[in-house]
Amino acid sequence: MGMDERQHIIAQRYELYHQKIYIEEHIKNEILDIFKKTEQDKYYITPTFLEFFFKNDTEIWLNFARHIENKRCLEIGSGPNGASIQWLFVREWIIIDPLIDEYKKLLVESGSIVSWPANIKTYAQNAENIIAELKGKIDGVIVCKNCLDHAGSHLEILRAISEYAVKGCKLLLWTDLYHLLGHDEGHSNITANVDEFKHYIEALGFDVLYGTPRFREDRSTIEYGCVAVKSRESEPFPLSYKKGKSKFFVIFAALLVYYILKVKRKILKRKGYKSFFL
Ligand SMILES: C[S@@+](CC[C@H](N)C(=O)[O-])C[C@H]1O[C@@H](n2cnc3c(N)ncnc32)[C@H](O)[C@@H]1O
Repeated sequence: MGMDERQHIIAQRYELYHQKIYIEEHIKNEILDIFKKTEQDKYYITPTFLEFFFKNDTEIWLNFARHIENKRCLEIGSGPNGASIQWLFVREWIIIDPLIDEYKKLLVESGSIVSWPANIKTYAQNAENIIAELKGKIDGVIVCKNCLDHAGSHLEILRAISEYAVKGCKLLLWTDLYHLLGHDEGHSNITANVDEFKHYIEALGFDVLYGTPRFREDRSTIEYGCVAVKSRESEPFPLSYKKGKSKFFVIFAALLVYYILKVKRKILKRKGYKSFFL
């Protein structure tokens, strides 16, 4: 699963095409509004982010905001309007997104921002390629929202995340794992097994604190989101993480056992056996 290089180039063309339209039609006004509110309250957070990662609870958000305020934070696959451009109270942000230079240009040209914020350093590259100077250097938060199924290798990106995070660093993660109705050229499938994916995050040294609410109300995808904290070293690679059993597998196994018992019962009945189990 994931994408090869050619598929990823096509996916990124698709991404840029849609983001251009989105910046013109929505993001410009969204960003202008957020900046206006941030001038009055530096900890302003949009209702979407509050609900998504902070249980709609301002206290949880404020504790989190104070935790990251004086730290170095990283956003992977930020798009043009990620957490990094919204939470400007943070001392230092780093963005890794292959399209970030295009977004910067589009944001300035569209009048969404006057100039690029000085506290956000950017790397216009794929996050699969580990950046040596960031290893063990992120102590605030790593945000990776709606990026993994747009990338070439989600496993390589997760591995990079675990190498950048020091103990105590938070992780805000959300991704579509599996597109139940099929997917277009901008997306790929990761896995249909949520438990397996969660075990992978844990094997990378993160403790999952809580999950995010369901985002796709139409249930068109299997999704996974969490707030986690780096608590220990990652297991050595390749990870020997315990595979969880997918819901499909559990249902399939239960039906199989039921069917076998039913057939067995019929055979025994036909042979005239009476058993405790009948
Ligand atoms: C759907 S957008 C999500 C933007 C934003 N995080 C949000 O939730 O609105 C996906 C972003 O991931 C970026 N992306 C795609 N492949 C990537 C990769 N290999 N490494 C880092 N970012 C990638 C894309 O350029 C795009 O900006």
